[in-house]
Amino acid sequence: MDGNGRWAKKRHLPRVMGHRRGVEAVREIVRAAGDLGLEALTLYAFSSENWKRPPDEVGDLMGLLKRFIIADLEEFRANGVRLKVIGRYKDLAPDIVALIDDAIEKTAHNTRTTLAVALNYGGQDELVRAAKAMAQRIADGSLSPENADADALAAGLDTADMPPLDLLIRTSGEQRLSNFLLWQCAYAELWFTETLWPDFTPAHLAEAMADFAARERRFGGR
Ligand code: IPE
Ligand code: MG
Repeated sequence: MDGNGRWAKKRHLPRVMGHRRGVEAVREIVRAAGDLGLEALTLYAFSSENWKRPPDEVGDLMGLLKRFIIADLEEFRANGVRLKVIGRYKDLAPDIVALIDDAIEKTAHNTRTTLAVALNYGGQDELVRAAKAMAQRIADGSLSPENADADALAAGLDTADMPPLDLLIRTSGEQRLSNFLLWQCAYAELWFTETLWPDFTPAHLAEAMADFAARERRFGGR
């Protein structure tokens, strides 16, 4: 979800206004996800590198995250959305961690759509943690080195219980992965749009999905 700052700048508004509109866009996309038949949707909300931003902006983002969870929890339940968080979210402020854990617990039985929010997430960090978990299993004897394969490593990823990644969307004209779902992107289809995140609507998502559906995926075959 990129382009909140530029959306605000274009309107001579403070960046936080762009982030606020970004949350509105999230809300509409999450509402539409189930109707569009999405089994899982992962949103990159805060990267492990976003701490480099000025403290004011980090504070604004955390405040918005808090309000989003509080305000939308009921709606998640009503719409069958199961909340999941990937990344080192336990390193966030204790009140936010408590809110997240409560929301995860209260939505655990929902089955329509899994909404995974990436918080304090970095793909390399996730891979290092998964590699460490696999090394630990080898060290304690529960995994033999011969069986240390891709599946064994993937079992230690934050996304272990999620379906394979099909489609990755990046907004705002940037064309990089920025440390997002590096392992999971192996065979994902990539879709780029100039649209800034606050302007991204369910119609854009449907367009990306239609484009995805028309692509031929060979997974290395021919
Ligand atoms: C989304 O937009 C950011 C986060 C969710 C942290 P940006 O804040 O990166 O917006 P630009 O790139 O400055 O336009
Ligand atoms: Mg950006």
